[in-house]
Amino acid sequence: MFDVVKVARQLKSAVLADPERFYTNETGAWVTGLPTPQEIRVSTGREPYWINLGYWRDVERVDENNFERVGELFRSAQAGMAHLLAKTARLGAGDAVLDCGFGYADQDILWAEEYRPARIVGLNITPNQVRVGRERVRLTGLDEVVRLLQGSATDMPFRAGEFDVVFALESAMHFRTRDAFLREAFRVLRPGGRLVMADMCQKTDRESGAGLRRRLRHRYWRGRIAFPEANVWTAQRYLAELARAGFQKARLESISADVYPAVNTALVALRGMTAAARQPGATSLARVREDVLRARQTPAEQLQWSTLFNCDEYAVVYAEKP
Ligand SMILES: C[S@@+](CC[C@H](N)C(=O)[O-])C[C@H]1O[C@@H](n2cnc3c(N)ncnc32)[C@H](O)[C@@H]1O
Repeated sequence: MFDVVKVARQLKSAVLADPERFYTNETGAWVTGLPTPQEIRVSTGREPYWINLGYWRDVERVDENNFERVGELFRSAQAGMAHLLAKTARLGAGDAVLDCGFGYADQDILWAEEYRPARIVGLNITPNQVRVGRERVRLTGLDEVVRLLQGSATDMPFRAGEFDVVFALESAMHFRTRDAFLREAFRVLRPGGRLVMADMCQKTDRESGAGLRRRLRHRYWRGRIAFPEANVWTAQRYLAELARAGFQKARLESISADVYPAVNTALVALRGMTAAARQPGATSLARVREDVLRARQTPAEQLQWSTLFNCDEYAVVYAEKP
């Protein structure tokens, strides 16, 4: 039956494009098959709750032979994204780190344990994630190193020059606005400090030539994932905004080929495996295998990040404060 309340809620999300609502109870799981905010349970603090698309270059990708292990493969690609950012930032002992949009703090635990920075301060707008993150930091014994705060990356409660590294791992597209974040990141970095992000944008301008219907459609879908229109940038605009905020040595490295196609296949497998587990008889492993095979043959232009959000680029962004 047509669910008026659900449709009204989706329209509201699309219009507000509000990151403060996106990861709350109202919006449910960010992808089918992963836990909703209410389902998150912490016992050891090490249960993985990543919320990113994964960097699939150096890990096993999901295919028709291994799709039953999709959960494990997805998590390893998601951790791969955190490693990629750490390596890009040359993260190491002594660094004071600010992490903006830390999800449930998986990346902070990983960076603290594997790269040994002096301290990590996390800033996240979603109260439930801050609560869960703090609990996990306590359970993993990292509370001397990692401190998690609730707040916005666009209005930081820090003094100028406090940090060596600022990270935004797949979160800056949500910030209202990304531009305001760049100015804040510049302020809180010390001279020589590094800004490193994993973020979505467009390889070249895909908006201006599009008709009204298409623009409204992209606007609707971006709103649904709390991606404000002010953040729809081409790669070239991204570099220009970094320079305008005062950054130097800025570069965007495209990793879209190692993100979008592989995560699309993973999401198809995850959906299929979840349906098989939740409603036995609704699907079969043979059917999921076929879906996975089809997903692997989907051309990049037909993937949801292009067709819905109009963002065909996924980049690692690096810049330095002079
Ligand atoms: C796609 S999730 C990525 C989470 C995490 N980096 C990961 O990889 O698991 C985006 C994150 O950005 C956070 N966020 C959105 N807007 C924010 C803002 N203005 N300031 C701080 N965090 C924000 C969300 O709460 C969420 O944790």
